[in-house]
This record gives sequence, structure tokens and C-alpha cells, in this order.
Amino acid sequence: MKVTVSRKAHFNAAHRLFVKNWSDKKNMEIFGICSNTNYHGHNYEIIVDITGDVDPLTGMVIDLKDLKDIIKNKIENILDHKNLNLDIDYFKKVVPTAENICIFIWNILRKEIEMAKGLEVTLFETPRNFVKYNGN
Ligand code: NI
Repeated sequence: MKVTVSRKAHFNAAHRLFVKNWSDKKNMEIFGICSNTNYHGHNYEIIVDITGDVDPLTGMVIDLKDLKDIIKNKIENILDHKNLNLDIDYFKKVVPTAENICIFIWNILRKEIEMAKGLEVTLFETPRNFVKYNGN
């Protein structure tokens, strides 16, 4: 019996979507106002889903306190109040779209969560726009 346990978290960050080799005009055509030269911010929400067997002794899939601490230390402390383009090395070469931020978060968390457990990350860039990644 697999059960999915979820934890929500939050961070604020700034970004600019652009491809270096493109002109400002071309970037504006493709990314719209998200390519604004002087950056802009989002209130990002994340949902981390951990799927696994319920431990017969503890009754838990994962200790939510542990999951909370992992998200706080490995994600929020790294991304909160940052300019993703300037402060995070990974995004010096990768466009910080919601898709790529979601993959970045998943890759960090995958190292922290037992491989036997499934991991899916949902990232909300706005209340209406969100992306999911589960490693596939
Ligand atoms: Ni944006």
C-alpha cells in the first residue's frame, strides 16, 4: 500500500527569462514581460509529494518534521529572497522558468529522500500557473 504524504512550502524570488544570444526584441517576443530587463518577482509555492509504504511500526511514510527541515534547509534557505539569475549558479546557464526551477528543486530533494520513495515536486509560479516534475 503506497501512500503519498505532502508538504507545502513557500519562497519569494526574482528572475528574468531571456536567452543571452537573442536580442532584447526577440526575448520580449518569446517571453513577454517575464523578460523585463530589470527582473521581477514571484511568490512561489511548492508542494513536495513523497510516496511510499507506510512503516508498520511508526505508521508513517516519512516523518513530516524531517521533510519540513529538508525543504527549509535545502530549498527555502537557498532560493528565498534571491535573484535566481544572479545568485544561483545553476541559472547562469539555464533559463529560470517554472519548469527549470521545478527540476532544480527536484534534483536537490532527490539526494535527500530515500530512493525507495517516490518524489514529485509541484511549483506554483502564480496561483493559476504551476508545473510538476517527478523525475521522468
Ligand atoms: Ni516571471
